[in-house]
Amino acid sequence: MCGIVGYIGQKQSLPILLEGLKRLEYRGYDSAGLAVLNEGKIHILKQVGKIASLEAELTGSHMPGVVGIAHTRWATHGEPNQTNAHPHCDCTGNIALVHNGIIENYNSLKKVLTDKGHTFRTETDTESIVHLIEEFYHNGTSFEEAFRSALLEIEGTYGITLISRYEPDRIYCARKGSPLVVGIGKNEYFVASDASAIIAHTRNVFYLEDGEIAIVSREGFITKTIHNKPVTKKVEKISFDLERIEKAGFPHFMLKEIYEQPQTVADAMRGRLIEEEGVSKLGGLTTILHNVLRSRKIFITACGTSYHAGLVGEYMIEQYCRIPVEVEYASEFRYRDPIIQDDNLVIVITQSGETADTLAALREAKRKGATVMGIVNVVGSTIARETHGGTYIHAGPEIGVASTKAFTSQVTALALLTLMIARTKAMSAEEGRQIVKEMKKLPEKVEVALQTDKLVAQIAREFKDKRNFLYLGRGYNYPVALEGALKLKEISYIHAEGYPAAEMKHGPIALIDDDMPVVVIAIHDSTYEKIVSNIEEVKARKGRVIAVVSEGDDKLNKLVDYTIPIPTTLDLLQPIISIIPLQLLAYHIAVLRGCDVDQPRNLAKSVTVE
Ligand code: F6R
Repeated sequence: MCGIVGYIGQKQSLPILLEGLKRLEYRGYDSAGLAVLNEGKIHILKQVGKIASLEAELTGSHMPGVVGIAHTRWATHGEPNQTNAHPHCDCTGNIALVHNGIIENYNSLKKVLTDKGHTFRTETDTESIVHLIEEFYHNGTSFEEAFRSALLEIEGTYGITLISRYEPDRIYCARKGSPLVVGIGKNEYFVASDASAIIAHTRNVFYLEDGEIAIVSREGFITKTIHNKPVTKKVEKISFDLERIEKAGFPHFMLKEIYEQPQTVADAMRGRLIEEEGVSKLGGLTTILHNVLRSRKIFITACGTSYHAGLVGEYMIEQYCRIPVEVEYASEFRYRDPIIQDDNLVIVITQSGETADTLAALREAKRKGATVMGIVNVVGSTIARETHGGTYIHAGPEIGVASTKAFTSQVTALALLTLMIARTKAMSAEEGRQIVKEMKKLPEKVEVALQTDKLVAQIAREFKDKRNFLYLGRGYNYPVALEGALKLKEISYIHAEGYPAAEMKHGPIALIDDDMPVVVIAIHDSTYEKIVSNIEEVKARKGRVIAVVSEGDDKLNKLVDYTIPIPTTLDLLQPIISIIPLQLLAYHIAVLRGCDVDQPRNLAKSVTVE
């Protein structure tokens, strides 16, 4: 989704802004722009497409200036073109503003402002904000008051950063529903929607909360609410290293992140397993532990890949804790008025911690009196802060738009939670110890699963031109089938569907012919014999089968077109290993098709609009 970078200091802002924009590219965008203030004038540059096109547009000009703002736009209102790209200006060109989020009442604002003589030049909702500030300012208030008054009028969500000729030594920022972080340097300050844009310059940051503004100059910053009440911010240290957001020799972030999984799965478990007692400990749950353990029903709500991890969680928790679990897309949960009682636990799962639907679901659950826990990757994100308690998955920054390492870490966190709850119920210490032992072997087994890479790349070559794929799995591997299909479609643009294998005969079987690749997760688990029958059904209709099988299982070699052998573990942990070849398959097919794996079309890394 859209990204923001801002700079004020002693250095030339242009290179800092461009570098920041490049670090935000992973979030997904369709156009970009920047504004630099120099000698009392604002210079603007915008372009459709990649940051490289914006740089090309500079044609030798260095756009001097030590104050500037920049933006990557992911179109919501108005098509992606140069005019609609941010920054947007008021009528006089004295204010330039960039915005993440959606202004819901922009139509009525536009009408009122047009009637007052303002000229709109774009189709965006954002432009209404800058004219509104101009309107208040021309009515004789201070610039700060005009800024705050405008914010009070707008409905919707925003992360806003602006510069103006009226106060050339200041950057104004505001947040409601769309994150903004301010980085503190030596006589210089940075603003960004995502810490990765500024981490090369400073690790000392503070995060704006909803309803807060920051006025940043070279000398310092002022923070207050939009109602003009002073706010003191706590300066925090960004903990991740620059190398975590660089490719480290891999051709794509996605591949790097797939390969990080032995480490990230280990990191998700670090210090949380007590082998002798066969139990897990999750520090972030201390304050809500009582409610978590006594919950009589659990809702899991999330979007996309995180939702698929939630489905695995449902299988685990119901099997081992015997607590009923309902998993629901956050976008449905938030609007359907779910029946939540005060002994219910709502678990929200999110990599970014900023997904708009998941955040709204969380707030709805809180409003209805549930205890809400988060399984979150991004430390300090909005969802991490708004939940009653939770656990970080510690996967480090996930830059590839297709989520990979977050999924395996989320499933690991859910296994830890399951173990923790189950051991207070019927699970014996012996069974607990067995799970702990198997969990500890996971990083090594994921490493072995990664060795299928060459074989998977070879399979990808054969199937890369197919137009449809079906993914089948049963039990714990059914959500893996969904996730495998999602990975393929989002980065290769091939239509793919995931199904519980037995459901195939209730409809999708009609699609099967010799042109239809069917990826089946056929691990030697409790559903094995049944899935073999499903494979027979596909083969009887000449479907091409790629089967992910248990190491040493030769039985399927004759039946299917390809087998991909991987290590096995307990059923509840198997998704962490089974998903690896499917991530690799999607990756290789997308690369072979010439798709931009790290920035697939139309997609955004962090979906902060509904
Ligand atoms: C798929 C993908 C998305 C996200 C979804 C939720 O590869 O990345 O489906 O999983 O947008 O995002 P988070 O987990 O950040 O809430």
